Amino acid sequence: MAVDTRKILVTSALPYANGPIHLGHMLEYIQTDIWVRFQKLRGHKCTYVCADDTHGTPIMLKAQQLGMTPEEMIAKVAIEHQADFADFLVEFDNYHSTHSDENRKWATEVYNRLNQGGYIATRTIEQLFDPEKEMFLPDRFVKGTCPKCKAEDQYGDNCEVCGSTYSPAELINPQSVVSGATPVMKQSEHYFFDLPQFKEVLQQWTTSGALQSEMANKLNEWFEQGLQQWDISRDAPYFGFEIPGTDGKKFFYVWLDAPIGYMGAFDNLCQKRDDLNFEEYWGADSDAELYHFIGKDIIYFHSLFWPAMLNGAKLRMPTNVFAHGYVTVNGEKMSKSRGTFIKARTYLDHLHPEYLRYYYAAKLNDRIDDLDLNLEDFAQRVNSDMVGKLVNIASRTAGFIAKRFDSKLAAEVENPALLAEFQNAQESIAKLYESREYGKAIREIMALADKANGYIAEMAPWAMAKQEGMEQKTHEVCSMGIHLFRILMTYLKPVLPQMAQNVEAFLNSELRWERIDDTLTGHEIAPFKALIQRIEPAKIEAIVEATKQDLAAEQAAAAPKAELEQNDELSKEPIVDTIDFDTFAKVDLRVARIAKASHVEGADKLVQLTLDLGGETRNVFAGIKSAYNPEDLEGRLTIMVANLAPRKMKFGVSEGMVLAAGPGGKDIHILSPDSGAIPGQRVM
Ligand code: 2FM
Ligand code: ZN
Repeated sequence: MAVDTRKILVTSALPYANGPIHLGHMLEYIQTDIWVRFQKLRGHKCTYVCADDTHGTPIMLKAQQLGMTPEEMIAKVAIEHQADFADFLVEFDNYHSTHSDENRKWATEVYNRLNQGGYIATRTIEQLFDPEKEMFLPDRFVKGTCPKCKAEDQYGDNCEVCGSTYSPAELINPQSVVSGATPVMKQSEHYFFDLPQFKEVLQQWTTSGALQSEMANKLNEWFEQGLQQWDISRDAPYFGFEIPGTDGKKFFYVWLDAPIGYMGAFDNLCQKRDDLNFEEYWGADSDAELYHFIGKDIIYFHSLFWPAMLNGAKLRMPTNVFAHGYVTVNGEKMSKSRGTFIKARTYLDHLHPEYLRYYYAAKLNDRIDDLDLNLEDFAQRVNSDMVGKLVNIASRTAGFIAKRFDSKLAAEVENPALLAEFQNAQESIAKLYESREYGKAIREIMALADKANGYIAEMAPWAMAKQEGMEQKTHEVCSMGIHLFRILMTYLKPVLPQMAQNVEAFLNSELRWERIDDTLTGHEIAPFKALIQRIEPAKIEAIVEATKQDLAAEQAAAAPKAELEQNDELSKEPIVDTIDFDTFAKVDLRVARIAKASHVEGADKLVQLTLDLGGETRNVFAGIKSAYNPEDLEGRLTIMVANLAPRKMKFGVSEGMVLAAGPGGKDIHILSPDSGAIPGQRVM
């Protein structure tokens, strides 16, 4: 191995084995796969492992509903998941399962080491218990009336109407989602991982590497709030691994053995490959790099519990954890009814995987921002970049070489300076891939593609070919097009691996990073075949339609309860996007006096307000009619957002917003300042 060859182990989050892969998941696998392919292309020893996340209550209950054993269900899902990944050209070195011998071995081993280290505590807790099903109920499996706002049919951990969080014991009229029975409180002994003992280690880990700034901020907030012991046990019945010494009564909580699944998958690979050694990658003194790609919802697990567990078990900690945001479709959350909750398989039934790989790459950066898959923009971008710019370079020049020049590239380079410019971009493009700034890399590559097209247009080999004595020049210009195309396709190989393979066949030459500076002068190429088609808008419509039909079919079958589709068992730390102070300070909150309030003809919910800001007045339509008589509002002080962009509504322009609290209906309460506040005063 060369001296500067890095040893790198990369993972993506393990998908739950109770549902299909959708385009939201695919962002992460495509992001990771591009990074891994890039590292391999650069000659590093990079290994990419993943597995299905198979344990936990939702999986156990879903299997019951389907009339299968959990083992049968996860075996079926494993096949589907792997087919989806393979067809999206995501190339794992190993795809395993958390329900495996290796994972059982490592979960047990890690636990035993933590226990010996004095990091496991036990204590008795009280929890809701389903007396019919004889099982403890995770928060998401209890529903009832919100203790705060009294909204019905709310989950046991938080209310979707008023947003408050509470413990399931506080719910009014609680019901088990599993059986409908009224749960009772029951005590049980639980095992806890003593996270607070790792505070210093974790703080050091946070500052030692190059964590994303959003993640470092989040971690600091958590440190300030104080770390808590983490409940790692669940009572039988549970689909998972038994905790040693508990007589089959206690199981590891799924989130304990899930990340250990990274080790299990790698261990399994070590048994198949002589060149990989487990200790070299996971031992405390490992000189390998370890990276986890994850979504922003599971940062807590990967940046607190996981490094602490590894450290406590005398194993190495991750080099870095890379989080990405969620996928939105057409600017909104993916939604089944809008037909935008698109399964990987539905997409693949209609479109080539490399379109999506390209689009995601073109929009990805190194931050935790959400990424919008705008379906119109997707088609337009792919057609213009991939077909119109990239493939065009080859399709405009290859024909001449085959027909007139015996399929051989010219012996001389027509424009060495242009070629050098393409070659010299390699370091900057490599840096962008390395730092996961794929969008910037694509922009740089496409700027070069524009130059290549500009060159061909200027040289116009089709006109040249008709001129006497221009034979050699035509040959050189067309060959130049192929040289430039080869370099661009080398740069894009991590993103477009299948197209790259077809181009390799066409060029009769492997696309390798270290060969960017070599030029195929005098080289024989193969006949050019169409590399890619344009996306027809009808295909996109068909995907959306098929997704809606999936939903209709699901509803007709009315089989799985919605709750069991919830992958999330309970303690995922919700990451609420925070805003910095400067962003907050941009909101101009003012005290306002309601000078006039009136009914709006034809509107069920709106009241029209004239707000006095101490000299200036604003017209605002507020959706508070269900709770107030307009007459009662006149003369009152309230708080308004004064710098909201004016909004044109059916009844006129609204020039701001009044702040109010409550779930709606009669329960709306406009905010009022204490007496003494003056209209126009700024609220801080
Ligand atoms: O959130 C999820 O989808 C989990 N199945 C991810 C697990 S990642 C790792 F920790 F195993
Ligand atoms: Zn509520």
